[in-house]
Formats: sequence, structure tokens, C-alpha cells
Amino acid sequence: MPYLVISTSLNPESKSYLLAREAFQQLSDGGHEVEFLDLRKVKLPLCDGADCYSRPNVAKVRAKIEKATCILVGVPIYNYDCGAAAKNLVELTGRAWADKTVGFLCAAGGRSSYMSVMSFANSLMLDFRCLVIPRFVYADKSAFDANTIADNTLVERVGEFVAKAVTLDGVNITKKP
Ligand SMILES: Cc1cc2nc3c(=O)[nH]c(=O)nc-3n(C[C@H](O)[C@H](O)[C@H](O)COP(=O)(O)O)c2cc1C
Repeated sequence: MPYLVISTSLNPESKSYLLAREAFQQLSDGGHEVEFLDLRKVKLPLCDGADCYSRPNVAKVRAKIEKATCILVGVPIYNYDCGAAAKNLVELTGRAWADKTVGFLCAAGGRSSYMSVMSFANSLMLDFRCLVIPRFVYADKSAFDANTIADNTLVERVGEFVAKAVTLDGVNITKKP
């Protein structure tokens, strides 16, 4: 606690947004302190490794990430990886991710890209010692109608994912034995 759910797709008809929103709703219904961040609503610069860090929106987003202990990230799968906006967010906010519990809700066009999130997960684990939730939500386009999750088993899978996040959040991965 507290939780932050981030939707990183910039597509106005994003499917991973629907997954992120479902996770947010379930956390909220469960009485957890949770915030939602939709990157379509916060204009962020592309990381240039220089002036970008002093931009006001970067500071705002960094503060939200710093405040959370557990971050659930909705990602679109692009070219067998997370969409660039997710990576850009991490480039902009860097150490704010240190020691967070992090999980992924992925929307893809097809079933074959299910391991695409791994390089992003590895970088968070290796760079920032994040605890990566070992249960991902991955859904292809067959699971969605225009603006809703059409597959009820997907809602259940989001529930299992959220339950795992709640179990793992608060595990103090920096505490010395
Ligand atoms: C540039 C681009 C690359 C994509 N690459 C993949 C891919 O490698 N594997 C896949 O299954 N789907 C791929 N897709 C399909 C998206 O994953 C799919 O549209 C998904 O719904 C995106 O998430 P979003 O709706 O939250 O934006 C790609 C789509 C775009 C626009």
C-alpha cells in the first residue's frame, strides 16, 4: 500500500487500459488505497537524458511512482516488447521505481507474443530491484468488445493477478535478514 495502476497505451481505444481499469476497480472495491494514472492524459516528453527531467509533468508522475509501494502497469504489446511509452516512462522516472512490487497487464493482437514483457520486467528487476509479480495478465483481441472486456474468465484472471499483488505488496525486499 498504496497502489498505483498505470495505463501506458496512448491509443484512444486501448484494450490494456480496460485491463488496468479493471485492476484499479478491484483494488478500490477491496478497500485498498489506489491511484490511477492514464498516460493519454499526461503529456510527457521523450526522454533525452537531459532537460526532460525538469519538466513539470515528469516531476508529477515521478512523485506518484515514489509514493506507491506496488505498481500495476497496463501495456500494449508492440513489436514483441512493451510499447515505447512504457519504456519512456521508466527512462523519465528511473530510480523512483526502486524496490517497488510491479506487475503487468498486457494487451496484444495475438497469442504468440506472451513473453514480450520479459525484457521490460528484467530491466526493472535488474536496474531497480523491483519485485516482479510472477503472474501476468495477457489478453489478445478476442477477449474484448469495442469498449469492454468480453471474456469473463479474463475478469477472473485480473482478480487472481490483483490478489497476488496484494499478497506480495509489503514484502520488504530491502530488509536485511
Ligand atoms: C506498432 C504496433 C506493433 C504491434 N506489435 C504486436 C506484436 O508484436 N505482437 C502482438 O501480438 N500484437 C502486436 N500489436 C497489436 C497490439 O498489441 C494490440 O493492438 C493491442 O490491443 C495494443 O494494446 P492497446 O489496445 O492497449 O493499445 C502491435 C500493434 C502496433 C500498433
